[in-house]
Amino acid sequence: GKVYLNGEFLDPERARISPMDRGFLFADGVYEVIPAFNGVLFRLDAHLQRLERSLAEVSIANPHDRAGWRRLCEEMVAANGGGNLSVYLQITRGVADKRDHAFPDPPVAPTVFLTSAPIPVPAADSLHQTRGAAAITLADTRWARCDIKSISLLPNILLRQQAVASGAVEAVLLREGLVTEGAASNVFTVHNGEVSTPPHSARILGGITRDLVVELCREHGIPVVEREIPEARLHDADEIWVSSSTKDVVPITRLNDRPVGDGRPGATWKTLSRHYIQFKR
Ligand code: PDD
Repeated sequence: GKVYLNGEFLDPERARISPMDRGFLFADGVYEVIPAFNGVLFRLDAHLQRLERSLAEVSIANPHDRAGWRRLCEEMVAANGGGNLSVYLQITRGVADKRDHAFPDPPVAPTVFLTSAPIPVPAADSLHQTRGAAAITLADTRWARCDIKSISLLPNILLRQQAVASGAVEAVLLREGLVTEGAASNVFTVHNGEVSTPPHSARILGGITRDLVVELCREHGIPVVEREIPEARLHDADEIWVSSSTKDVVPITRLNDRPVGDGRPGATWKTLSRHYIQFKR
């Protein structure tokens, strides 16, 4: 496959970045992960809108307009044979001549990097066969601007690794007694057929998949409320789901080594995932 770096499509081993890049020195950058199914980028404009917002929030000059980003992402998919793949897109503040926390002055050109990875099976197609996944709860140790899709992911990495080390696929994060999100996903609970998910705030990433799930619930008459989820409501939930662009909507059937509901993917999840699969086709 090809990667894209600062204006060129290259073989990955030919791509070179300076160690003075602020992405390397400070994790000073933002990113997106955009899935493509059958060669078509999924909710591309929503992802690009979030990217533009992340860039603006950290004052990195946006190197492309919307049409330019669209074209670049589409070229990236084409350069990697189309099909089912996720495009990873990263922009850092660029290469400065000295290590200084403050922005380079005068500003330098941002570094733009894209790569792609195959999505093994269209995740949605295997949704109805799943037996669910395990998660654990952990304290949300991240910063106060989780709405920015920053490449500074050390807390997320440590949290996810703790989950993996305990045999779980995801960490469900708790801050001040409330569920925020997963280490790399958004979280939903279901009580008596009613779906809850935390509202948009600086404490969560506004997930593209999250927003789609809320839309699909509304469209198909599944009760859904954007509201905070206290820790106790997580533990007495009939169902828990986590969502992300590359994994779709996964039912969490074990939490902290205890079954969620009856320990199997729930009825509300089955209904939602049917609509979800239909939507994605
Ligand atoms: N992560 N919350 C966090 C902290 C995330 O990192 C992600 C996605 C999400 C879900 O957002 P979306 O539905 O737009 O993918 C929520 C990506 C996939 C990643 O870091 O690889």
